[in-house]
Amino acid sequence: MIDDLWYKNAIIYCMDVEKYVDANGDGVGDFEGLTRKLDYLAGLGVTCLWLQPFYPSPNKDNGYDVSDYYGVHPKHGTLGGFVEFMNHAEQLGIRVIVDLVANHSSDQHPWFKSARRSPDSPYRDWYVWAKKRPPDHDEGMVFPGVQKTTWTRDPVARAYYFHRFYKFQPDLNTRHPKVREELLRIMGFWLQLGVSGFRMDAVPFLISEKGVDAGRELDYEMLHQMRDFLQWRRRDAILLAEANVLPNESLKYFGELGDRLQMMLNFPVNQRLFYALATADIRPLVKALHDTYKRPPAAQWVNFLRSHDELDLGRLTDPQRQKVFAAFGPTKDMQLYDRGIRRRLAPMLGNDRAKMELAFSLLFTLPGTPMLQYGDEIGMGDDLSLPERECARTPMQWSPERHGGFSNGRRTVRPVIADPVYGYRRVNVELQRRDPQSLLNWMERKIRMRRECPEISWGDWRIIDTPESGVLIMRYEWDAHSLVVLHNFTDVARAPRLQRKDVGHDLLVDLLATHDSRADQRGQHVIELPPFGYRWFRAGGIDRNVNREVI
Ligand code: GLC
Repeated sequence: MIDDLWYKNAIIYCMDVEKYVDANGDGVGDFEGLTRKLDYLAGLGVTCLWLQPFYPSPNKDNGYDVSDYYGVHPKHGTLGGFVEFMNHAEQLGIRVIVDLVANHSSDQHPWFKSARRSPDSPYRDWYVWAKKRPPDHDEGMVFPGVQKTTWTRDPVARAYYFHRFYKFQPDLNTRHPKVREELLRIMGFWLQLGVSGFRMDAVPFLISEKGVDAGRELDYEMLHQMRDFLQWRRRDAILLAEANVLPNESLKYFGELGDRLQMMLNFPVNQRLFYALATADIRPLVKALHDTYKRPPAAQWVNFLRSHDELDLGRLTDPQRQKVFAAFGPTKDMQLYDRGIRRRLAPMLGNDRAKMELAFSLLFTLPGTPMLQYGDEIGMGDDLSLPERECARTPMQWSPERHGGFSNGRRTVRPVIADPVYGYRRVNVELQRRDPQSLLNWMERKIRMRRECPEISWGDWRIIDTPESGVLIMRYEWDAHSLVVLHNFTDVARAPRLQRKDVGHDLLVDLLATHDSRADQRGQHVIELPPFGYRWFRAGGIDRNVNREVI
């Protein structure tokens, strides 16, 4: 039973093959390079890789403009190379999920090229057309400030086509039976090559009505159909949704009976987590945790700090968002699309080790499965001279050598960061691997411990109230085991008191150090938390199998 639900206790690492390692010296990352780095990822403790689009693409949106769903972009290698990579990952016990970009294709996809040429094309209805420019053409843009419209006139088709995203990403008509059939075929193809599932791009748009006079109805049944197909083909495969929706809508994505998507990125918690880090006011975070508490038993949230996109703060109130901007992205060039911050984690947190540890400790202990963005494990920075979200998508920094050891080529697909603070000479895997105090080694140890805390993945949780403001205390319980985690969001030391009855035992064993706590005569634990400090305790004993009497 537990092994079937592997994703509940996974460590997900998200990456773009293009930016990871270049083995053939053409300046672009490839599968051969990534394959060589799988041991690094296994050593870090990663159990699941999410690969961003590596398919043939004009690459105007980081590969999210796919021109062939059944292939590997030649600059990344071949399908044969992909299979070799999959084989090696499997040997190391690393699962792979891939991006399924089904809401839209590239305008260079043969389907769209055919569709625009003639109304009689079999692919015409695979896209969404209008004869006249629809009145709502300047509404609903996903990239405000950069994207001007959602309907663009195609001179060849002599009609307007709908695109929720950039204009080179025409929306697929996902209500068309043939399009749906094709989506399943694409899933079947990659499943057959061994992937453990899909990160589904832009799910609310995928299932929405599209076109002139489109209603607001979402077709959740489509998610059920995809899930059914997925599990017929591979029983332990999962769907992980990118769906930045309100908490009360998430159950529709999971399905009340857990019969739709197994996993969703937890956007509600993500935004409030950054608000809490910015202000030490944890109340909105606590609310978001409660709001996302309810989910079917087999469903799971995925927590993350940063991803390859901007940190989207769109669901905070205006004053809240302004506070996060002020703390983490004060200048206009750090902000994006009127709603977010485009920087990487380390620069947002001022490269402050205590704050970074706090943030990662939260990532690993909030309810759900943690996801890391490549490079964050060594504290990579960003390059704000690059446009939009590209600033946080620079090549991985492996060593102090030229191009940070990313490539032997003359030029690289994007410049490797070379500034004095975050540049590859200072921030790289090679140096950090040999430094016992490095962020990388800290991360590896935390990941190891996190994997041994299935209470977080499987268990139930509640928040233990404390009068100490800015301190979040959570208790997890699973299978008669109990874990207590504390985080201090403030810049002053705190010493919350915990009652024995609240934590379940006289002995709290520190999982990250040797500062265990014994309840005093009044049955209280007093836990010292330095500024931005964090502690993970297991009640009763360090090994889960020795403390059956807890609770
Ligand atoms: C998703 C991706 C983003 C991309 C967009 C369009 O939101 O995360 O990077 O630009 O979809 O496909």
